[in-house]
Formats: sequence, structure tokens, C-alpha cells
Amino acid sequence: MSEALLQVSNLDIHYGGIHAVRKLSLSLSAGETVALIGSNGAGKSSTLNAIMGWVKCQGGLTFSGVDLQTQASHQRNTMGLTMVPEGRGIFGRMTIHENLQIGAHTKTDKVQISEDLQRMYELFPRLAERRSQLAGTLSGGEQQMLAMARALMSRPRLLLLDEPSMGLAPIFVDRIFQLIQTIANQNTSVLLVEQNARRALEISQRAYVMETGEITLEGASADLLHDDRIRQAYLGEV
Ligand SMILES: Nc1ncnc2c1ncn2[C@@H]1O[C@H](COP(=O)(O)OP(=O)(O)OP(=O)(O)O)[C@@H](O)[C@H]1O
Ligand SMILES: [Mg+2]
Repeated sequence: MSEALLQVSNLDIHYGGIHAVRKLSLSLSAGETVALIGSNGAGKSSTLNAIMGWVKCQGGLTFSGVDLQTQASHQRNTMGLTMVPEGRGIFGRMTIHENLQIGAHTKTDKVQISEDLQRMYELFPRLAERRSQLAGTLSGGEQQMLAMARALMSRPRLLLLDEPSMGLAPIFVDRIFQLIQTIANQNTSVLLVEQNARRALEISQRAYVMETGEITLEGASADLLHDDRIRQAYLGEV
């Protein structure tokens, strides 16, 4: 088996007295899209935040063979880890163009940055039309597009997405999932946290199911789509 791009082993996260994530292990190979699903409060965001270095954790985290526990958050960015957080985290008082430029803060090649900006405006025509508009005035769906475009400006090797479809109208949900597919097809690995379990399973190769801090099920997404436990608990079937 090829070496994993991301390897999480026996991850524990505590918030004061709350043991939010317990002995969680997961892995992701280069080029894979992996989904992490589970109910509210299961510990999905905490897990992504730990991978990014935004919360304290115990356990093993390696990315491309490097021990992430020795790397500060900004170093993890430079290594190719980028996350679109829950709630998107765009800068509302800056323009769309400025937000995209910030996405490239780990990059120094000006020509490449300018090409990437152009690429983003082609991928997201709505953002192109609004490039001088303040990001805070965008609709929810447009803000999510901006958050994704900003993340792509860093040319991530692994993109972590925390609930990208949350709160969006169906047409934007479709667009976001198409985009994730496009990104994945362009050789970016994706770790996707989603409430929309069906869509997440449809676009991922493998998935992990989390309940109250622990992985309770894992497997090929195509199999999980037909698993009775998943259909009952997460797909509203049976
Ligand atoms: N900063 C924090 N301080 C204290 N408790 C926290 C903190 N962040 C998360 N928690 C708790 O840890 C648990 C896991 O939260 P987390 O946000 O990781 O879950 P989640 O699976 O992302 O849930 P959701 O689907 O609602 O986004 C919850 O019980 C939550 O209340
Ligand atoms: Mg969450």
C-alpha cells in the first residue's frame, strides 16, 4: 500500500473536562476524497481543527511523512494544508479581490499568483463580476464560493472542508458539490466534513462515521451508501 498523505493516529482532544475526540485514527492517500460524517457535536470540526493546528490535541498527526505536532499552523499552510472552516472565515470588510490575494499569502511567485487569480475568476464568474465588492455584502452562497476560491489560491495538496453546503439554497449546494468534484479531479486531496451525508458519500471514495468523539464505521463510500445503519441514521431511509 502506498504511504498515506495524511495519517491521524489515536487522536485525543479535550476541552477542559470534555473529552471531545477519543483515540481517533484515519488516513487519506494522495488524490483521495475522504468524507467524515456524523451528528452534531460528534467532534468532526475539532478533528479538522487539530489537523490544522488550531486546537490542542494528543496523538499522532503526519502529513507527507512530516510530524505535524512539530509544525505551527502557518507551517502546515506552507506544507500544503488548507482549510475552509465552518462559517467560512472570509474577511467581510475587504473586497473579493483582496480576500483572494490573502489566500495566496504563502506564495511568492507573482506571475503564478496572478494566473491563479485569473483561474479563480474563470472558475467563479460570480466573483469576477463582483471583484471590488466588499466580501461581507455577498450572499451566503457567494461567500462560500469565495471561501473555496481563497483556499484554492494557496494551491493546497490537501483541502479540508468543514460543512461547505451548510445553510445554502439547493442550487448553491449543487454548485458547491460540483466544485468539490472539479477540485478533486485536479489532483487535490480532499477531507470533507458534511451534514449532507448522501452527497458526501456520492463524491468521496472512502468515508468515516463519527459518533460522540469516536469513529464507529469506515469503508468505501459506495458500500456505506447501502449500509442499513447509515441509511437509517444519516440518509433518512429504511
Ligand atoms: N472550543 C471549545 N470549547 C469547549 N468545548 C468545545 C469547543 N469546541 C467544541 N467543543 C465541544 O466538543 C464537542 C465536539 O464539537 P465539534 O464542533 O468538533 O463537533 P462537530 O462534529 O463539528 O459538530 P457539528 O456537526 O455541530 O458542527 C462538542 O460537544 C462541543 O460542544
Ligand atoms: Mg462542526
